[in-house]
Amino acid sequence: MDLQNKDILPREILPVVVIGNGPSGICLSYLLSGYTPYLSPEGTHPNPLLQGKLDQQPHLSLLELDLEYLCEGLEGRSSNPVAVLFDSLLLPDSDFGLDHASPLLWRYEPERATPHLVLGKGPPGGAWHAMEGSMLTLSLANWMELPGLKLKEWMREKRRNVRNDRATPAEIASYYQHYVNQMGLEDSFACGTTVTSIQRVNCEGASGRPFWKVQGTQKREADELGEGSLSEVPFIVCADYVVLATGTHDIPARLGVEGEGLPFVCHSFWELEAAISRGQLDHTSDPVLVVGAGLTAADAVLAAHHLNTPVYHAFRRSVTDPGLIFNQLPKLLYPEYHKVHQMMTQQQQHGQDIPSSGGTGTPVDQQENNTASMSTGSYPGYVSLPKHRVVAFKPDRKCVLEGEDGRRTVLQVSMALVLIGAHPNLSFLPENGRPLGLNPQEPITCRRNPLEVDPYTYELVSEGGLYAMGPLVGENFVRFLKGGALAIASDLAKKQRAKEENRTTLRVS
Ligand SMILES: Cc1cc2nc3c(=O)[nH]c(=O)nc-3n(C[C@H](O)[C@H](O)[C@H](O)COP(=O)(O)OP(=O)(O)OC[C@H]3O[C@@H](n4cnc5c(N)ncnc54)[C@H](O)[C@@H]3O)c2cc1C
Ligand SMILES: *[C@@H]1O[C@H](CO)[C@@H](O)[C@H](O)[C@H]1NC(C)=O
Repeated sequence: MDLQNKDILPREILPVVVIGNGPSGICLSYLLSGYTPYLSPEGTHPNPLLQGKLDQQPHLSLLELDLEYLCEGLEGRSSNPVAVLFDSLLLPDSDFGLDHASPLLWRYEPERATPHLVLGKGPPGGAWHAMEGSMLTLSLANWMELPGLKLKEWMREKRRNVRNDRATPAEIASYYQHYVNQMGLEDSFACGTTVTSIQRVNCEGASGRPFWKVQGTQKREADELGEGSLSEVPFIVCADYVVLATGTHDIPARLGVEGEGLPFVCHSFWELEAAISRGQLDHTSDPVLVVGAGLTAADAVLAAHHLNTPVYHAFRRSVTDPGLIFNQLPKLLYPEYHKVHQMMTQQQQHGQDIPSSGGTGTPVDQQENNTASMSTGSYPGYVSLPKHRVVAFKPDRKCVLEGEDGRRTVLQVSMALVLIGAHPNLSFLPENGRPLGLNPQEPITCRRNPLEVDPYTYELVSEGGLYAMGPLVGENFVRFLKGGALAIASDLAKKQRAKEENRTTLRVS
């Protein structure tokens, strides 16, 4: 959709602009479009305490109830209370594998809708469109669903035999796109838009209220030329409130070592896929070095191993480290990741064991195309290097690693894949959003330094009128980021009610 066709007058101020059109932005758009959750008359919740609280005012919607009161005493796998509350209302007891029906009833009440605009670079679905790499999602499929459209039913329609409860990222991405159309949200979505700056504008004088000026560019077909070519058109939209829902997958994390910018050193899974599809990798290639022990790194190991391309796999932690994602995933549900963990455990080589062509006892062991010596163990062609860090990449495709004992190893590779996570790109905020983080001295990251928000409204603590949700506030799973949408929609509804009451009082007096 073109922003130009939306008839936004430059002076018009929209109530809400959402930046980011992944699951976070979509879920919030659903709630802002008038879809309203109530306790269903026959609905029961397995938690009697919560049920009792909901029964006190059954005529009110969840958006009108006191979320803090409802959250009291609830416990779950997220540290955000509203996330636990909403998850428990949408999928009660799902941690125990139970399929308890949700006690919520969704009513479409368009008169409650808040006009809003969701901006996003690609099609609705966010990071899920960029994840072709991983074969199956990490979560059970229903944890990825958004309110009002059962993912399982939609998947059953799409493919004849659903083998298990997990789905591929492509299926999830397509579900999100379908969801936007099915729920009639598409008029609020302006895709192909990149926000480049947001600014608080404080109006002078009594009548003017402060607002946000959101600037960016939109990719549009240059139809005047009739060539179908794309051009970037600048746009400006103004809003009372802005919601940051841009996720954290925009900038691949870097090691910060010498030679990291060399062309054979890559930082994304798709560069491996591109090399594979160009036919650059097979069983005769020099080994691929995969750095990292997250799921993307695991996917890269599997993809290369599948082609019989030899793999060196280096990571900082030990294989038994409880922080390792593989030690947190149930084996039965994630057989392929369990296999990678098994490979990492069984094929461990320490610096001194790596077959070297340059004598023993030297501080630097040389490994040159010595792939024949990798053909040992149950997974020939794969070598696991736990507790190793990369020291440098050299122009002749050599990688220098250092083990825990300080011993260095040089590996000859065809390509190196550094897959150690990603950072959000908040370049549209002053100082990349740093002043808004828990620790204003550090860059924003999902795990260690998320944006600091009020736990019941998701409004930024240091910037009123600005909200954030999803991985930006430390909520990396779709299952729990829905709570942010509830908190924000509920706070915006509260502000709207306050404004209306204010108006009536003025009229009466
Ligand atoms: C390999 C992998 C596997 C995963 N598996 C799971 C899983 O099994 N279960 C699960 O729950 N989660 C999983 N996740 C996490 C999941 O990606 C996130 O939970 C979810 O996508 C976050 O949603 P979001 O809408 O907040 O952000 P995103 O999905 O990241 O979407 C944000 C969108 O905002 C856009 N954007 C960014 N900056 C701008 C800008 N300046 N202007 C306009 N648009 C912008 C981005 O392009 C993006 O499209 C996985 C992640 C990865 C990488
Ligand atoms: C962050 O996003 C902006 C706008 O899309 C882009 O110009 C910039 O290159 C990005 N920064 C990084 C480090 O990727």
